[in-house]
Amino acid sequence: MTATKGLEGIVATTSSISSIIDGVLTYRGINIDDLAENATFEEVVYLLWYGKLPNRSELDQLTKDLSDNASVPAEVIEQIKLYPKDVNSMAALRTAVSSLALYDAEANDMTPESNLRKAIKLQAQLPTIIAAFARIRQGQEPIAPKSCSSVAENFLYMLTGKQPEAIAIQALDKALVLHADHELNASTFAARVTVATLSDIYSGVTSAIGALKGPLHGGANEAVMAMLEEIGTADNVTSYINDKLANKEKIMGFGHRVYKNGDPRAKHLQKMSQELGKITGNMNWYDMSIQIEEIVTGQKGLKPNVDFYSASVYTSLEIPRDLFTPIFAISRTSGWTAHILEQFDNNRLIRPRAEYTGPSHQAFVPIEQR
Ligand code: ACO
Repeated sequence: MTATKGLEGIVATTSSISSIIDGVLTYRGINIDDLAENATFEEVVYLLWYGKLPNRSELDQLTKDLSDNASVPAEVIEQIKLYPKDVNSMAALRTAVSSLALYDAEANDMTPESNLRKAIKLQAQLPTIIAAFARIRQGQEPIAPKSCSSVAENFLYMLTGKQPEAIAIQALDKALVLHADHELNASTFAARVTVATLSDIYSGVTSAIGALKGPLHGGANEAVMAMLEEIGTADNVTSYINDKLANKEKIMGFGHRVYKNGDPRAKHLQKMSQELGKITGNMNWYDMSIQIEEIVTGQKGLKPNVDFYSASVYTSLEIPRDLFTPIFAISRTSGWTAHILEQFDNNRLIRPRAEYTGPSHQAFVPIEQR
């Protein structure tokens, strides 16, 4: 038995949800470029869950279901009030999502209908949790979700208490479309491993949030912004990046396990970053990002991934840096739950093997002699 480090190139399951073939990403066979230009996040959620684009009444029903289920149990809000104010936002989200199961009478009901209802609840409640957490830590009261608005609009409204501008809703909606699913990425794999034991959907999504948190996965978008802030202005980019590369440090937001010729999602976020920079009158983050890309791609051949330009996009939308990864989680909940439903549909325990590299033929030594 020989291990492949990081399971690179290992095909671990079949799936009909999303594909990456020759560098082209599709959701249910539809090119991500078409979806980014034409679909709303709710259409994508429907596509991932049901395998087809919704007609008008199906889309209206899903939008209503997401809106009707967006309230979070009062007990969970009370718990969030007890979290330390400076706690990591992904740790807070992970804890609150885990708590949701305690107040859902059907948390452990394994019927397909119940699992689909819980997927709707999770998708609906994540934005409410994140917005509530963001307000509570600033000493503000959480804002109840609005009825029948889009996930993007509702989230921005609950975060600020103000009606968001159309351009902000559009930009966030497109970011949600782009992050919704991505084949067998680390967090989705974590979700599938968890539920393949026939554990419940809340456990699956909680595992996924834990996996997304790391800077080699979803946590990279926050790390990109931390880097941009540290660099400060375009004048400092060259020396900062050259030093990092000379020290063999990773530049966050670059590289990908699967895409070697570029992440197809990055160009949409780059365009959005430029447009939002023009609208806000602050091109600094975009200009710095372009310079970083030129250096990193020029010297290392590494291309930006989905996380790189999403950092400047969210900053232009005045979203606090530590909410970037939770926003990724809002979007990816659609993909996680689609994969969990697919796993339940054709389940087998996921239990690979390890190549043993420890000592052998060791004698047991009694404690007195150690
Ligand atoms: N900056 C500098 N060098 C890099 C980078 C980077 N961002 N990414 C990879 N490399 C280098 C590595 O140092 C390594 O070089 P070496 O062979 O000389 O040691 C080589 O490229 C291969 O890198 P690995 O880390 O082995 O590649 P892997 O496929 O395991 O990792 C990953 C992919 C984790 C995305 C990696 O490119 C990385 O750490 N990027 C930065 C973090 C990031 O942006 N993560 C988000 C990914 S997208 C997502 O999850 C949503």
